[in-house]
Amino acid sequence: MDLTLKIWRQAGPEAKGEMKTYPISGVEDDMSFLEMLDYLNEQLIDQGVEPVVFDHDCREGICGMCSLFINGEAHGPGRKITTCQLHMREFKNGDTIYIEPFRAKAFPIVKDLMVDRSAFDRIQRAGGFISVNTSGNTIDANAIPVPKENADKAFDAATCIGCGACVATCKNSSAMLFASAKISQFSLLPQGQPEAKERVLSMVNQMDLEGFGNCTNTGACEVECPKGISLENIARMNRDYLLASLSSNK
Ligand code: SF4
Ligand code: FES
Repeated sequence: MDLTLKIWRQAGPEAKGEMKTYPISGVEDDMSFLEMLDYLNEQLIDQGVEPVVFDHDCREGICGMCSLFINGEAHGPGRKITTCQLHMREFKNGDTIYIEPFRAKAFPIVKDLMVDRSAFDRIQRAGGFISVNTSGNTIDANAIPVPKENADKAFDAATCIGCGACVATCKNSSAMLFASAKISQFSLLPQGQPEAKERVLSMVNQMDLEGFGNCTNTGACEVECPKGISLENIARMNRDYLLASLSSNK
């Protein structure tokens, strides 16, 4: 397959970026999208050109590191897949493919296609955990009954891999889908209750401090989320936030 790649190149966070054109031949149908970029980079290195910087790690849809905007869609065409799970058979000979970084004020560009998503880590650190009694008297988690429906919803929320596609897709660069998933995975379980109010207030506050936009219910985040995280989580987070605000002294 012969393709034309239009790739965003940017030397550093403050540098002016631009789209550059790279023709590429010999792309195989069964290459993953990231393997195709590896293949391009080998050729660029042979030509003495600096390779394209992009994020990746597990390459099997688990870690959330890959983060490309491909032909105007986070993680490219296809639903419920990450960029590393996208294969070149989705494209055809002669195609032009536009490859850009995830764009959001809270995700500054590091270089080329790599962005800094540490804002997500700071939201998580603000309350995305439970404090566990390690005195030796800890109650076995399996000894606490959890309604099946809640267990399933909590598990679904916990499948968020923190990739940031929701933010990149949202016209407001909102992180509500991510934050609501990270809050819901605890708020639906008995173990998450003791710190529930503090958690939702603190994580939403951190989300706002990081410069993410608000949610205006377009639902684009849910469509592009590789893990199918439901908008239902945002509704739950808003409800929990309101109730926690009304009873908070802060
Ligand atoms: S909610 Fe979905 S799109 Fe957003 S960070 Fe989590 S997995 Fe990625
Ligand atoms: S590289 Fe880990 S999810 Fe894509």
